Amino acid sequence: MQQRESTTAFAPDLSITRGTVLRPVRQVEILAYFSGAFDIAEQQQPGHAARVAFLAQEVARRMGFGAEERRRLLPVGLLHDAGVAVRNEHGHLVAGAWVAERFGFDAAVGEAILATHERWDGRGRPHGLAGADIPVAGLLVSAAHWACEFADSAMSPLRARAQLQSSSLADLEPLAGREVAAALRSALHDDQTWLALWDDDLPRLVAQVGVDGRPSHRNLEQAARAMGEVVDAASREPGRSADASALARQIACTMGLPDAYCDAIAIAGHVMDLGLLGVPRHVTDKPSILTVDEMEMMRCHPGVSARLIERAPGLADVAEWVAAHHERPDGRGYPEMLSGEELAMPPRILAVADAYCALRAERPHRTAFDEDETMAMIEMGAGRQFDARVVESLPQALRMLHDDAPLGVA
Ligand SMILES: [Fe+2]
Ligand SMILES: [Fe+2]
Repeated sequence: MQQRESTTAFAPDLSITRGTVLRPVRQVEILAYFSGAFDIAEQQQPGHAARVAFLAQEVARRMGFGAEERRRLLPVGLLHDAGVAVRNEHGHLVAGAWVAERFGFDAAVGEAILATHERWDGRGRPHGLAGADIPVAGLLVSAAHWACEFADSAMSPLRARAQLQSSSLADLEPLAGREVAAALRSALHDDQTWLALWDDDLPRLVAQVGVDGRPSHRNLEQAARAMGEVVDAASREPGRSADASALARQIACTMGLPDAYCDAIAIAGHVMDLGLLGVPRHVTDKPSILTVDEMEMMRCHPGVSARLIERAPGLADVAEWVAAHHERPDGRGYPEMLSGEELAMPPRILAVADAYCALRAERPHRTAFDEDETMAMIEMGAGRQFDARVVESLPQALRMLHDDAPLGVA
């Protein structure tokens, strides 16, 4: 017999006991932490995007770049692979520039991302630009990428260091030009560079280089929203993460949770499915029933999402909620089968918001459910699949949301 959680048996503590207060962040700082999501989408080694960004900075510093040029360079390195996750008929570079825009970076960042596959000798793509016609940030990231790919494929930073330090890097000159190649050679001969590249908290080091930019809550909201948009673009469900975030936030407000929780739950709503970027597309797109192995891959996504954000400033609690957004009050959820006190209120809210948006959306194997069908299905799960108090709050939350700005779901 299925276990139903009573509405009064368990009332999660809603007081703010730990760090559930979002911190203002700088734009590049938060991107440095979130960039791990692009690594899993491109099946790169963890920290790839951050290493490319950091090394490009080291090269720029040796070339005498000013603070403003270096400030623009960091997001180019961090986002150079961002477009790989996005499905876009114009290719991953155009998609990467789109992601940069979603983060709020200026057009020069997007232009440099578009130039990361150009070559000094004019044999690159997409435009076959040559020499000084190529935005220099594109060349620097391309050179840093070359060295980082070499280091990643060597499987051992020590072996990579020995090989790169003994090489003349002559084959880099046609790619990035003599001046960039020389500066890269100098950076790779500095052991501080290598220590930093494999530092446990490289995003923190990257963020420190991001010399200016004011910390703000808006930067965090914008970055979380942009990451959700990347996930939606990967799954071809535009607007889905923003809708789930808005609904989760509204449910939290309707239930009377403190404002700090409501804001943090909204951030969790944007980023809870980041881990899906690491699931192969033949699995996420499969129109038929998943095999046990494929199901296992899908079930890893809450934990992966949590790991991608847990070290970002102020997001430790948000990461815990994200990890539990597919748990169920009756203990039959995944990945940990949490129940009772183990399952806090924020993930209970995220689960209902997520389910509502999923049911209202078209899927490869079915059409969207209408409002009545969706509500009936969610109400049927109250106390088992979904927290009964959250389900009770859902109609009012939806009314308030629709009065404000309708959800984009069908
Ligand atoms: Fe890359
Ligand atoms: Fe999910």
